[in-house]
Formats: sequence, structure tokens, C-alpha cells
Amino acid sequence: MTLLFFVLLLLVRFASRVHGAQTFSPAAIPYAVRTPYLNTWMNTPVNSNIPSDWPTFWGGQITGWIFYIQVDGKTYSLFGTSAAQGNDSVTAGALLETELTPTRTIHVLEAGHMNVTLTFLSPITPSDLVRQSLPFTYLAVDLASTDGQPHSVQLYSDITGEWLSGDRSQEMTWSPPTQTGDMIYHQLKLVTSSAFQENGHQAVDGTAYYAMGLEQGRNITWQTCPAGPCREEFISGGGVNANENDSTNRAINNDYPAFAISVNLGNVSSVNSHIVWVVGYVRDPNIDYTLSGNTTSLRPYYTTNFSTIESALEFVVADFNNSLTQAMAFDADIQSAASEISPQGELYDMLSLATRQVFSSLEITAPYQIGQTGGATRIFMKDLGITRRVTPVETLYAALPMFLYFNNGSLVKPLLVPLLEQQNVSISRYPSAAKDLGETFPAVTGPNLVSQEGIEQTGNMLIIALAHARYSNDTSLLLDYYALFKNWALYLTDNNNALYPNDQTSIDDGSTSPNSTNLAVKGIFAIQAMAEISQLVGQTNDSQRFSSIASSLIGTWQSLALSPGDGTVLVTYAGQPASWVLPYNLYVQTLLGFNLVNQTIFDKLTVTYGQWIGSPSNGYTYGLPIESSESSPGNPGMRSSLLPRPTTQSAINSSLRSGTMHRITREVHRSAYCTTSIKGPSRTDRRAPH
Ligand SMILES: *[C@@H]1O[C@H](CO)[C@@H](O)[C@H](O)[C@H]1NC(C)=O
Ligand SMILES: *[C@@H]1O[C@H](CO)[C@@H](O)[C@H](O)[C@H]1NC(C)=O
Ligand SMILES: *[C@@H]1O[C@H](CO)[C@@H](O)[C@H](O)[C@H]1NC(C)=O
Ligand SMILES: *[C@@H]1O[C@H](CO)[C@@H](O)[C@H](O)[C@H]1NC(C)=O
Ligand SMILES: *[C@@H]1O[C@H](CO)[C@@H](O)[C@H](O)[C@H]1NC(C)=O
Ligand SMILES: *[C@@H]1O[C@H](CO)[C@@H](O)[C@H](O)[C@H]1NC(C)=O
Ligand SMILES: *[C@@H]1O[C@H](CO)[C@@H](O)[C@H](O)[C@H]1NC(C)=O
Ligand SMILES: *[C@@H]1O[C@H](CO)[C@@H](O)[C@H](O)[C@H]1NC(C)=O
Ligand SMILES: *[C@@H]1O[C@H](CO)[C@@H](O)[C@H](O)[C@H]1NC(C)=O
Ligand SMILES: *[C@@H]1O[C@H](CO)[C@@H](O)[C@H](O)[C@H]1NC(C)=O
Ligand SMILES: *[C@@H]1O[C@H](CO)[C@@H](O)[C@H](O)[C@H]1NC(C)=O
Ligand SMILES: *[C@@H]1O[C@H](CO)[C@@H](O)[C@H](O)[C@H]1NC(C)=O
Repeated sequence: MTLLFFVLLLLVRFASRVHGAQTFSPAAIPYAVRTPYLNTWMNTPVNSNIPSDWPTFWGGQITGWIFYIQVDGKTYSLFGTSAAQGNDSVTAGALLETELTPTRTIHVLEAGHMNVTLTFLSPITPSDLVRQSLPFTYLAVDLASTDGQPHSVQLYSDITGEWLSGDRSQEMTWSPPTQTGDMIYHQLKLVTSSAFQENGHQAVDGTAYYAMGLEQGRNITWQTCPAGPCREEFISGGGVNANENDSTNRAINNDYPAFAISVNLGNVSSVNSHIVWVVGYVRDPNIDYTLSGNTTSLRPYYTTNFSTIESALEFVVADFNNSLTQAMAFDADIQSAASEISPQGELYDMLSLATRQVFSSLEITAPYQIGQTGGATRIFMKDLGITRRVTPVETLYAALPMFLYFNNGSLVKPLLVPLLEQQNVSISRYPSAAKDLGETFPAVTGPNLVSQEGIEQTGNMLIIALAHARYSNDTSLLLDYYALFKNWALYLTDNNNALYPNDQTSIDDGSTSPNSTNLAVKGIFAIQAMAEISQLVGQTNDSQRFSSIASSLIGTWQSLALSPGDGTVLVTYAGQPASWVLPYNLYVQTLLGFNLVNQTIFDKLTVTYGQWIGSPSNGYTYGLPIESSESSPGNPGMRSSLLPRPTTQSAINSSLRSGTMHRITREVHRSAYCTTSIKGPSRTDRRAPH
């Protein structure tokens, strides 16, 4: 399997960047990263290749997308390929700058006497689910003459059927380009689509779109044609032939039919409004949802506002200016929060990658009444870049600080609803919480219960539920599913399950040692979370009971888990004093404002772990490993394979395939937002190790 996705955060090369604001270059650069199936990247760590390299789906296969600019009659490629088309020659443009923000990737390239700015915008609008669920992204182009003189400029971009399936021998079909009052658009799909299926990680039940608004006075041409001749036509004529079209269905790879939109600007030294292409991949319905044996097709959320996809697309095309303004404000807010913690910008750069990745893993569905749950909005998360698991609870938990940060945690409720309604159907079947809702995204089959993850996932669910209620002041889920939560809490307290984890697997490094201290503390915090859940719904007796259990367990934990002198947290209760774990689960105390682990201990741990991070001589240049042991992900010994400085693409690809890397990046997600999410009552202590 080629797995690129969640590893993209890896800091492949530091310092050798071209842009002053960027503290590291990611291993791949997001282009159209919006949903699990609209997910296209520039998979290169070498900036200089970009103008002649193809964008790819996260799985690594090319999603044909090309951009040419002609300046004074000479053609330059800005991404895609600079390979000659027929007898015509194409020169790769020169990449001057790359900047990533949470919503945008910005390249500045030089082509002849023009500076060209490409802005790939994948909007993020946590408080507006209509916009958030629209499966479209933008590519906006701006120009500035480098000698102040006007130059003759033509632009060209196309996409191919490679956006439709991982199997390029599939037959595709398309309509002639459609012109409405305000825009033109191409649409293409497979002749035979298979609902809720994938091929090569790509969905095979969607329609791809390529569109542009018809701005007054702009000379725009469009055409469907075999990729080679289409591109040649632009190179020789500065546009494409709108009067011709190519309407014969054929395989994606049978001369690669291309869907082109070209703009002839004439002689210009700049443009007064962005030139904007819109690319989309639409699936409706987007989720197949089975609850108690009844299956329902759920539709994307934006269908609550738009009755046709054409009206949705018209809205998207017209919404660019507004989307860009909102995106800049969104980015500025994150940048300002991040710079409070990380003035040099490293945290902001990590958040710039993590935020888009997390949002692109979501499918948001329109409110639908099923069974007991009246008209609920449901959001499903794909285990993107790894498997087809539906809403993996440990990943939802890892992203929780981010979800809490936005819009008072409002997105957490629709993410929790499917998990809760599914497990509430038969509480006795689920003594502990399931790890996900099945393994065939976007078909949701039902909860997977794995007893070896009982403490981890049950802890996750209780902590997420309380955090959501706290941040949103919405206790409805706590009331509706109280019996389920209580049953889970009893699983943690029974037989001291949480205090002495046995036969449990670590989600983070796959280890199975009994008495894992880091797991135990999560379980104990989850019991305290139950105490507070009980309090919030007026179950005072339960609250007192769980609270006193948590206090008593944490006392034992403190006496067993801390190395002599309390300077570190041992891996297991029986561990050697020299062995330690990165006790990131202590973050829960900070997040939820608990008063369980003694503050003096937090302070000591902060000093010890802080010293290690602060002194590169111990080899922890990139942060601490999960555990002190040699084989732990992230330790210096493992780092040669984890954080290479590879020189070839194949070396990069092979290092990226390592499963452990996903876990590392999951920690990056977690820690990245941990530091910025603490807005509420618990903002006071950011020093806790996490
Ligand atoms: C391309 O060049 C070859 C060799 O010079 C020539 O025979 C052919 O006619 C040219 N094709 C076009 C389309 O100009
Ligand atoms: C072109 O881009 C480079 C790199 O960002 C910048 O230094 C230069 O000022 C730009 N020139 C113009 C005319 O915008
Ligand atoms: C528009 O662009 C096309 C392609 O370059 C060109 O053939 C045509 O003359 C242009 N039309 C106008 C009105 O400039
Ligand atoms: C495209 O070509 C087909 C076949 O030649 C023709 O029937 C159709 O009208 C054309 N459509 C447009 C929009 O030109
Ligand atoms: C652009 O400028 C060139 C050089 O001045 C001139 O030859 C050409 O006619 C101009 N083109 C247009 C479309 O105005
Ligand atoms: C977007 O803003 C530009 C100015 O920045 C303006 O010229 C253009 O008309 C606007 N486009 C839309 C669709 O409002
Ligand atoms: C719903 O669609 C209309 C255009 O049809 C648009 O004006 C309105 O802003 C949209 N609402 C939302 C919440 O996006
Ligand atoms: C499933 O369908 C059956 C038959 O229509 C219905 O009685 C039952 O309530 C449904 N269950 C749920 C959870 O909707
Ligand atoms: C979050 O909640 C506060 C307090 O109710 C409110 O003032 C604020 O507008 C909310 N923020 C968002 C983004 O909804
Ligand atoms: C929740 O309630 C608290 C206390 O009343 C208040 O300070 C806070 O702003 C509220 N938050 C939201 C999201 O409404
Ligand atoms: C876990 O630790 C406790 C207390 O030290 C010990 O009694 C128990 O045997 C340990 N469990 C396992 C499975 O090692
Ligand atoms: C925390 O630990 C310190 C030092 O051991 C002790 O003095 C203090 O009483 C403890 N605080 C609580 C709340 O247990």
C-alpha cells in the first residue's frame, strides 16, 4: 500500500526552504484537500520539481491537473508536466516561494517577465456546515509584471478523468461543457459507478467538475479534447476551441480526455481580480448508514440549501471573494493563537498542515431522522491515509482539541451522535466502547468492539463527551445516553480495570505491556469525567461515587507510576526507574480542569521533560519519543528510519510507508492543537507535558 496521507506532517527538511515565513517544508503539499475523496497533493519534498510535476491523490496516483502560462508567446508549466507536447516546447516555470496556511497553499512562480501567484484554497468554515460540506476547492491566479511593462499573457488549465477512479481503464462519460449565465463548467463521471465503493482509495461513485465564472470582458475558452492535442492547441493558439467538443465516451487512459478552461488576458502587467478555477468531486448520497439492520442513504449537508448541484456550483463560483476573505481571517486567528505559544512559527506551520487534513477527513450529512434520534446531523470521519475505518475513536480523540477550538466545539456533537446511537441500541453488547463504526467507509456498518482497546476507547468516549458538553454548554447527549456512559464507566471501575490495565494494546505504539501507566491515567480521568457527566445531568449520587473512586485510584497511581523523586512517569508500574513514558494523557487534566494529579507533580514533570526537549545533545531534536525504550516511535535510534533526510523520491516513499509514522503524526495533531485549544477555564496551565 502506498500510504502518504497522515505522514505528510513529517518534517522532511528543515531550513532549506525558499520562503522566510515557512519553518519547514512538508513532505507533500496540499492542493485540493477538502473531503476524503477530493484530496489532491503535490507529492514532492523538492520545491524545484513542482512546476513540472503532477499532483497526486493522497494514495500516490496522478490526478491529472495541469497549469500552463504563456508569456510573450513562450509557454511555461507551473504544475503538471513540462514535457513537450508534440513539437511544441514547454519550459518549467521557476518556483520562488511557497507558503502554507491552514486553508491555503500559495506558490509564487516566475514565468518570463511575470510573477504568477497560485493560491490553492480549501475553505474551512466550522460554523457554516453548508459551506464546509460543499465538495469544491479553488485555484486562484494573480499576476505581476516583473519589469513593470505589459506582456501578452494566456492561461490554461485542465483536469483529466484520473479524478474518477484509481483504475484508469474504466470508461468515463461527460457532458458537453455547460454555460450558464454566470459560469461555464465541465462535468465527468464513470459510465458505471459503484455506490460507496473505492478503487485505489479513490471513490468510484462521484462526478468531477471543473468550472470558472464568466467575468465581464474576460476572453475565456473551453473545450473537451484528448490531453495532448488540447494542450498543443493552447501552446500554438493561446486558447482552446470552444466550438469543438469531443463527446465520445472512452476509458480514462484512452488518450486521456482533458477538460480545459483557458483565459487570454492580452497585454497586461497585472490583473485587477483573481482568475479562479473551481475543482470539485461530488458524491450524493455520500454515506450509506446502517443502524440496527436498517440501511439509509445519507445526503451531503449542503443539499439542505441547494436543490441542484448546478446551483451549488454557481454559489461556490460566486463565493470566491467571500471565501478568501473568511479564509484569511480564519488563518490569522490560528496564527495569532499559535504564536502565543510558538513565536517562531513552528506550531503555526504544523497547524497549517494538520487543520486541512482533519477537515478533509470528514463527510457531513444532512439532518435525517432515524429511529429514536430525531433529525440529527451526523458527521463521519475517515481513517484517511490509512484504512477505510469509519470514525476511528482514537483519531477523533486526537483531533478533539482542534474540534473544541472551533465554534465552541459544535462539530463534536454530530461526530459523536453516530457512535452513541449505534452503541445505545444494545448497551449490554457494548460493555466497553467500540473503536470505530466499521471498516468500509463510506458504508457505515456498525460498531467494532475490541476488548484489547477497551480502556483506551472507553476513556476516549467519556472524555470527548464531557469536553463537548463543557465547551458547548450542551448537555443533551449526556442526558440522552446517560445509561450508556454509566455502563462504560462501570467497566472502567470494575475489577480496577482502569488502574491495572491488563490485556490491553496501546493505540500509539502497539505495545501490550500490562499496567501501562499512561493508559491507566486516561482510564482514571475518564472515571472523573463520568463523575462530572453525572453532576451535569443531576445524578448526584453517581457523581459522588465516581468522583471518590477516581480520587482513590489516582492516589494509588501516583504512588506506583512515578519514578523515585517524581521526576518521570514510568512505562509500567513495575518499570525500571530509567524507563519513562511521555505521559501525554495527563493533558486531560489540563483540558478538563481536573484537580486529581497533584500540581507539584505536574510542575516536576514539566521541568524534567522540558529539560530533555530543550537540550538537543540528548538526540531529541524533534521532540520526545513516546517511550524511552529503543524501539519506541520517535526515539533517536528509530529516527533514522522515521525522519530521514532522503535524497530520492523512492527513499521518501519507502520511509513514508512505515506504519509507525502515522502514530507519530497523530501525536503531532494532538499536541499541535493541545497548546492552542485551551481557551476556557483551564487556559491557565499550558505547561503540562503532553
Ligand atoms: C513535428 O515535427 C516533425 C519532424 O520535424 C514533422 O514531421 C511534423 O510534421 C511536425 N508536426 C507538427 C504537428 O508540426
Ligand atoms: C516577484 O516575486 C518575488 C518573490 O516573491 C518578489 O521578491 C518580487 O518582489 C516579486 N516581483 C514583483 C514585481 O511582484
Ligand atoms: C480570445 O482568445 C482566443 C484564443 O487565444 C483568440 O483566438 C481570440 O482572438 C480572442 N478573442 C478576442 C476577442 O480577443
Ligand atoms: C458537441 O459535439 C456533438 C457531436 O458533434 C454535437 O452533437 C453537440 O451539439 C456539440 N455540443 C456543443 C456544445 O457544441
Ligand atoms: C501586445 O503587445 C504587443 C507588443 O506591443 C503587440 O504587438 C500586440 O499586438 C499586443 N496585443 C494585444 C492583444 O494588444
Ligand atoms: C472579487 O473581487 C474583485 C476585486 O478584488 C472584483 O473585481 C471582482 O468583481 C469580485 N468578484 C466577485 C465575483 O464578486
Ligand atoms: C444558501 O444558498 C443561497 C444561494 O442559493 C445563498 O445565498 C445562501 O448564502 C446559502 N446559505 C448558506 C448558509 O450557505
Ligand atoms: C428498522 O426498520 C423496522 C421496519 O421498518 C422498524 O420497525 C424499526 O423501528 C427500524 N429500526 C430503526 C432503528 O429505525
Ligand atoms: C461561543 O460561545 C460564546 C458564548 O456563548 C459566544 O459568545 C461565541 O459567539 C461563540 N462562538 C462561536 C464561534 O459561536
Ligand atoms: C457556557 O456557560 C458558561 C458559564 O455560564 C459561559 O461562561 C460560557 O460562555 C458558555 N459557553 C457557551 C459556548 O455558551
Ligand atoms: C500490575 O501492578 C500491580 C501492582 O503493582 C500488580 O499487583 C499486578 O500483578 C500487576 N499486573 C500485571 C498483569 O502485571
Ligand atoms: C501535593 O504534593 C505536595 C508535595 O508532596 C504536598 O505538600 C501537597 O499537600 C500535595 N497537594 C495535594 C492537594 O495533595
